[in-house]
Amino acid sequence: MKVIQKKDYEEISRTAAERILAMVQEKPSCVLGLATGSTPIRTYEFLAMACQQRRITFEKTCSINLDEYVGLGEADPQSYRFFMETHLFRHIDIKRENTHLPDGLAADLEAECRRYDSLYAQLSGVDLQLLGIGQNGHIGFNEPGAVLDANTHVALLSENTRAANSRNFSSLSEVPHRAITLGMGGILKARHILLLASGEQKKEAVQKALYGKVDPAVPASFLQLHPDVTVLCDFALT
Ligand code: F6R
Repeated sequence: MKVIQKKDYEEISRTAAERILAMVQEKPSCVLGLATGSTPIRTYEFLAMACQQRRITFEKTCSINLDEYVGLGEADPQSYRFFMETHLFRHIDIKRENTHLPDGLAADLEAECRRYDSLYAQLSGVDLQLLGIGQNGHIGFNEPGAVLDANTHVALLSENTRAANSRNFSSLSEVPHRAITLGMGGILKARHILLLASGEQKKEAVQKALYGKVDPAVPASFLQLHPDVTVLCDFALT
């Protein structure tokens, strides 16, 4: 894995946006794998600015997100579809039908997971996957455990993750217990992976992911098996 240390969150975000813009420039019909959470927000602002200044068009671009909370629909401000619309999609010219997230309201969650896997296959691969990382080493909602799922699945969120994400809800009890997430196999199929990590609180997870054993207890450590991962962080790794 290649590690690039930047000065701060702003520089991580600017560099991530430049990489994404270069990909879209080179291959306008590329497939972007997108993440939610606090980390990519500024990257998305840079992408929106580039599109508004007509430096780029996303007209032919597709996106597929990593995950969605079970039980939250797109009208819910805490849903990841709402997040993506608010922070990116409504500010760029990507076509709604080319943007994909799991349906957190699906009546049959297993069928929704299979639909997402076949959609992923139909898109013929993600060109660039953007990732954040949980303090517990999760990527997507692939939580630490004894085993990891390769395919899209319904994940039980750890208490650590629910507590971290409760900042976006009015109380911890409102944070869903489950989410649909792309599995580790799906994430590792992307051609290029860009992992963003900002703040000392992420340092231990990144350190273990990069230099520890490949271990389901640290899901991000599986990125060591991928041939093209770049980590952008704003702290020194030892
Ligand atoms: C979000 C996702 C998560 C986040 C991770 C870090 O789609 O899949 O793995 O990337 O929880 O979240 P932040 O960026 O809020 O620290």
